[in-house]
Amino acid sequence: MNNAQLLQDWERGPIPQPETYILDAYGIDLTGRYGGRPIKNPFGKASGQLSLNARQVQADADAGLGFVVLKTVIAEDASGEQTMKAWTVKETRMQVEPIAGKTVPRLGWTTTWKGRGWHDTFDAYLNLTREAVRIGREASMVVAPSVKYHLPGPGETDWRTGEYQHTTARLYEAWLSGGESGPMILEKDFSPTLAGDDRAGQQATILSWLRTVPGLIKPVRPVILGMKLMNTMFEDAFQVEALKAAASSGADFLVCFNRLFDPQKEFDGKVGVAYGGPDLSARNLKVLRLAKEAGLTLPPLSATGDVCTGKVALAYALLGAESLQMHTLFQLPDLYYECRSGSKSARALHYLLFHPETGLVPAMLTLKERSGISRFLDLQHLPEEAFSA
Ligand SMILES: Cc1cc2nc3c(=O)[nH]c(=O)nc-3n(C[C@H](O)[C@H](O)[C@H](O)COP(=O)(O)O)c2cc1C
Repeated sequence: MNNAQLLQDWERGPIPQPETYILDAYGIDLTGRYGGRPIKNPFGKASGQLSLNARQVQADADAGLGFVVLKTVIAEDASGEQTMKAWTVKETRMQVEPIAGKTVPRLGWTTTWKGRGWHDTFDAYLNLTREAVRIGREASMVVAPSVKYHLPGPGETDWRTGEYQHTTARLYEAWLSGGESGPMILEKDFSPTLAGDDRAGQQATILSWLRTVPGLIKPVRPVILGMKLMNTMFEDAFQVEALKAAASSGADFLVCFNRLFDPQKEFDGKVGVAYGGPDLSARNLKVLRLAKEAGLTLPPLSATGDVCTGKVALAYALLGAESLQMHTLFQLPDLYYECRSGSKSARALHYLLFHPETGLVPAMLTLKERSGISRFLDLQHLPEEAFSA
């Protein structure tokens, strides 16, 4: 491994088209996969407050991210009715702060806020989708909209299929008019705030959502569907069961797993908020490990949750992740990235790739020496113990 060169690359700051440089200089192939498509590197932006306008998407394209998932829109039917309207809360304030893991002895970061889904009109979201798809195509960056559709509560049997039909069909039109021609990549968001909702109080209800949703979306238009699974309030064994239900539901890929939910924590007068940090990645990795040990065959995985270093990304990759999507990492104080130039996204990407102690490239070079594996997408074939540092 060429340590002097690695250090020089780290110190020079964000490198344009880093994946091309990394392949040439180190023989490491960072190609990932998201929504069935190859992506130039495995790092993308997760759905949220940092992907709700075209300016943010353009900055991510310029920084070289592999993909961007747009903010979640709340589905509506042809008359504009939204059963999940309670999730259209406008953001008030976001608080980014250090958090200590309770299950792992490590400090990390979490963002707390009171907002939920997209709060502007559906037409405005369609415009964003169109524009973001166009920006993405110019930069070879995959873009996906994200939706929260109606989910029936316990005892309710009626699915508001009108929401599924109308929202999916209109998004698909926007996808095509942004310049795409194939199936639309779409995430269905089961958010952590659902975990604290009455309707998620029963295991049977959650399993029935996971089994039913793909059958309501996929027949509407050609869609590559990613289901973004929430961390349920139940024990790990049930989380694995939910994963199993999602795996056989017809979803094309899974996003694992949205944040944890603390029903007691208070923020700005609201009791019950989502959180992240070391406990989030610890739980996510534990559940993926349990699923692997149980021999579950899973659809392709995109991992989310506490990916604040290249090494955390690697841990997810060894358990099957073909891409990583981050939110909190892009909100940290500039000091975190130890890098003086570039946009937030460019600094974050450089940090993930090149940080001398925690970067993905130094870690993959060590693995290449040990196992001969030099492709990011091949990491999933290695045993988890292949990298212990
Ligand atoms: C402020 C904020 C807003 C978010 N909004 C959404 C959303 O609209 N839809 C969604 O699927 N996930 C949403 N998320 C979850 C993120 O996309 C991401 O999956 C999660 O925060 C875990 O990644 P992280 O640890 O890098 O933050 C949000 C997260 C934060 C912190």
